[in-house]
Amino acid sequence: MATKVMVNIPGENTYSVRIGAGLLAGLGAHVRDACGIQGVGRALVITDSNVAPLYRAAAKASLAEAGLRASDIVVPAGEESKSLEVLGEVWEAMAGLGLSRDCVVVALGGGVVGDLAGFAAAAYMRGVDVVQVPTTLLAMVDSSVGGKTAVNLEAGKNLVGAFKQPAHVCADTSTLDTLPEREWRCGFAEVVKSAAIDSDDFFFWMADHAEALAAHDADAVAEAIARCVVFKADVVAADKTESRGVRECLNYGHTLGHAIEKLAGYGTFTHGEAVAEGMRFAARLAQDAAGASAEFVQAQDELLDALGLPALDWTADPADLLDAMKRDKKARGGHVRFVLPRDVGDWQLAEVPDEGILAHLRAWAEAKQG
Ligand code: NAD
Ligand code: GLY
Repeated sequence: MATKVMVNIPGENTYSVRIGAGLLAGLGAHVRDACGIQGVGRALVITDSNVAPLYRAAAKASLAEAGLRASDIVVPAGEESKSLEVLGEVWEAMAGLGLSRDCVVVALGGGVVGDLAGFAAAAYMRGVDVVQVPTTLLAMVDSSVGGKTAVNLEAGKNLVGAFKQPAHVCADTSTLDTLPEREWRCGFAEVVKSAAIDSDDFFFWMADHAEALAAHDADAVAEAIARCVVFKADVVAADKTESRGVRECLNYGHTLGHAIEKLAGYGTFTHGEAVAEGMRFAARLAQDAAGASAEFVQAQDELLDALGLPALDWTADPADLLDAMKRDKKARGGHVRFVLPRDVGDWQLAEVPDEGILAHLRAWAEAKQG
């Protein structure tokens, strides 16, 4: 049984996100339908070197069955593929394959492939359709929906990109069977983020289902994905280009999280592990700066613990962490901004003065050392 969520963003074509086990088999028919392809169409599957041996054949077979001529490009797995160099290679390969404006790009993989292929589609011949086929939990709950695409520069992550909404999203949850455990936890961090920002209903549903989720129970996982997609679709509908002070809520936990990733050295902690720590920190900061309760902080800690995201046994010099936060692209005019939860489902975007951040970072570091 598939769950279907419709994403209706003002000024964009409405698209469907289908969530369920075994959906890859029906991918071709949905691509044809979503992209309005008549006759023999051309599809390009962009995937990575880990995902290709697992799911490329099934994706291409389904596209072929629907009468689409499918080619593929495989990029090396990992964040390094979100580069101008790889993007240039993808565009050259697309031109070499003779793809024209009516082709459709199928992004088969995690957030790296989704962001890279989405940007490739956004600019190739000034824009061709993209269908997102997320194969990581993080990509299913977050990156495949909402249209942010980008590659990294030496100067920082995601510095060049475009908003490119997909024509369709196909989240085949059976692809998660091969996902490494650490990548599951990466996705869980974003699920907790969504639940804490969204509502009591989602947050307490998570608390009730944490054990089932940690055990990868198929029904619980599918429901968590659907809840995240509904939440994200609403946020993006309210603030498509992150210019209205709403979409920023999706950065909850990311202010300290990004600084941890950078100072610890990329790859030391996963993005999810760093974001989980960032949410623990932001919740404590919010106790002082936004009136969050001790009960909220504790409930979030317990949920993260239950999903295998314990507090990190790592610290750094508070001054270095503050400096890293100020250099982040989310900072404005040298001021660090935090998404602060006042309570479950209630948040504010706040510029916190340096002294307040430093005091909390010192307490955070001392608690770990003590
Ligand atoms: P990823 O794409 O690197 O995937 C993680 C690892 O899992 C990779 O090694 C990949 O090859 C492997 N993998 C993927 N699917 C698999 C499967 N089913 N079985 C086995 N292995 C599999 O990482 P990610 O966590 O999915 O995405 C991170 C990226 O997403 C970052 O670049 C981040 O900036 C981006 N992101 C984008 C948005 C957005 O809104 N566009 C939101 C959040 C994150
Ligand atoms: N994950 C951040 C966003 O889509 O805005």
